[in-house]
Order: sequence, then C-alpha cells, then structure tokens
Amino acid sequence: MQGPKLDWHGKDIISIRELSREHIEDVLNQAHQIRPDPALLQGRVMASLFFEPSTRTQLSFATAMQRLGGRVIGFSGIEGTSIVKGESLQDTVRTIEKYADIIVIRHPLEGSARLVADTVSIPVINAGDGANQHPTQTLMDLFTIKKFHNRLDGLKIGLVGDLKYGRTVHSLAIALTRFRKITLRLISPPNLRMPPSVLQELNGIVSYTETEHLDLSDLDVVYVTRIQKERFPDIEEYEKVKGTYVITPKVCEMLKPTAILLHPLPRVDEITPDVDALPQAKYFDQVQNGVPVRMALLKLILLGA
Ligand code: NCD
Repeated sequence: MQGPKLDWHGKDIISIRELSREHIEDVLNQAHQIRPDPALLQGRVMASLFFEPSTRTQLSFATAMQRLGGRVIGFSGIEGTSIVKGESLQDTVRTIEKYADIIVIRHPLEGSARLVADTVSIPVINAGDGANQHPTQTLMDLFTIKKFHNRLDGLKIGLVGDLKYGRTVHSLAIALTRFRKITLRLISPPNLRMPPSVLQELNGIVSYTETEHLDLSDLDVVYVTRIQKERFPDIEEYEKVKGTYVITPKVCEMLKPTAILLHPLPRVDEITPDVDALPQAKYFDQVQNGVPVRMALLKLILLGA
C-alpha cells in the first residue's frame, strides 16, 4: 500500500536520526527494485568529496550515480585542491555547489557534513563525519539484514569491537530504535564502549546489554567492526586494545546456523580470511548491497520519488 509521499526531494542525509521507519523502508524497497537506467539521472552531477580514505563508500556512490546515467566530479584526498592553499571548507563547497546537483562528503571532523549542508543549497549526503555518523552504511546494513532474515523487527543483534569511535555502529544502533523488539548486545573493551549519548537514545526503546565477553551463541546478527586506529588520541591506547576480538572459524562454531556475520569493512585482523567460506559470512554481500541502496537514495533525493 502506498502511504503519503515522503519528503525526499532535496533532502540532506546527515544523520540517521533524520530518517523515520517509513523513510528507511522506502529506501530499502526501492533498492530492492531498482535497475540500471542510463536515462534516469542523465545530466545530473554528483560531487564526491572525500577528505578521508575510502574504497567502498566512494566507489559505490560513483557506481550508483553512473548506473543511473549521472556523472561524477570530485576528489579523494585534498592534495590537488585549493584546501592545501588554506581555503576553508565553506568556501570550497560554495564553489562546488555551482557545478553539482548533490554533494557526497566524507570528512574527519564530526559535524562537518552538517556545516556543509547549512552552507549550500543543494542536497548533502554524509558519507562519514569523524566518529559521528555514517547513515548510508546503515541503510545497506539494514538492507542486508532484511534480505537474510526477511524482517527488521524482533532480532537479536550483537555489535562487536570499537563502539566508541566506530561511526557505523552509532548510526546502526540509532536506526534500530525505529524497529520493534530489538535486543542489542554491545560487545567491546571497557574503554571502547558505546558513547552515553547513543545509549540514551536507546533507553526505553531497544533493550541492550554491555559486555566484554564474546558470547554470540543466541544472536541473529553479529556486526563486527575494526578498531578505529586513526581516531585514538594516544597510539598506546590503541596498542592495548588491538586484536581484542578475532573472529575465527573456531569462534564461529558457537553461531546459530541462521546467524549472519556482517562487517562494514575494511577488516584488519578482526575476522580471519578463513571465515569467509562459512555460510554465515555475509560481509561481501553487504558490500554489494551498497550500490542498489545508494542508487535508490540518489534517485529519491534528486527526483523526489
Ligand atoms: C567504515 C567507515 O568508513 O566508517 N567503512 C565503510 O565506510 N564501509 C568502517 C571503517 O572504516 O572501519
């Protein structure tokens, strides 16, 4: 059944908080149906501004735009731009909005995507702002979970690893407040626990527990993350926690046969390569889902439906 039209046209996607359950379901449904169509976004230009390293997010956004007939401009790293001459982020994006119809930005500073959205009049998608948010990763995570479990309500989900600095788990945990009867197990070293600001948003909606212990046996979804080395103010602190959790085939023996193992990637050492062959390993499916989800999002924002 078609509900009332959602406010997609020209919408900024800065935080997952801006998306209702209806928005999320709309993107996932559209992502399920969307097919390459070189006429759909013909003549539209996406500016891809990556101030931090990226393989999947950057290339899947570019692939998504091109599969719908749009074009991509932008940069990956500031070398070669006037930022190295001292130009501000605001002046940079005030320039780019003259060339493009939409901005996709990844930047190391929390709040940078919001600042850009407040500065320009074209829509802005946050592809990761520091340790804060990564809303489009969450949409592809939810798409993947729905694909394998056929639902987003009533699931037991474990988030494992760096819950303090990992932006993907911040966005995902908040997104789960949109669904019913979710149980979250937050598994991390004590100094990398989920920030209190995120926990506060879960209170009374999502039932969660925090633990250091890698108990995965009753979970439907196990979402493993990389320790975010680049965000540690002190490298010695990183050295203390690196390698805390390593998912091996032996560890996976405790998984339910129907459980799915996800990771936003890149992995460093937290899932060994011999896990990839197990039936629960779905992180490369997750990667693949980035393209249809981002195609659907670009279509909704640029065309309105
Ligand atoms: C993540 C990110 O950049 O936050 N990567 C991604 O976009 N798939 C996760 C990470 O870097 O650990």
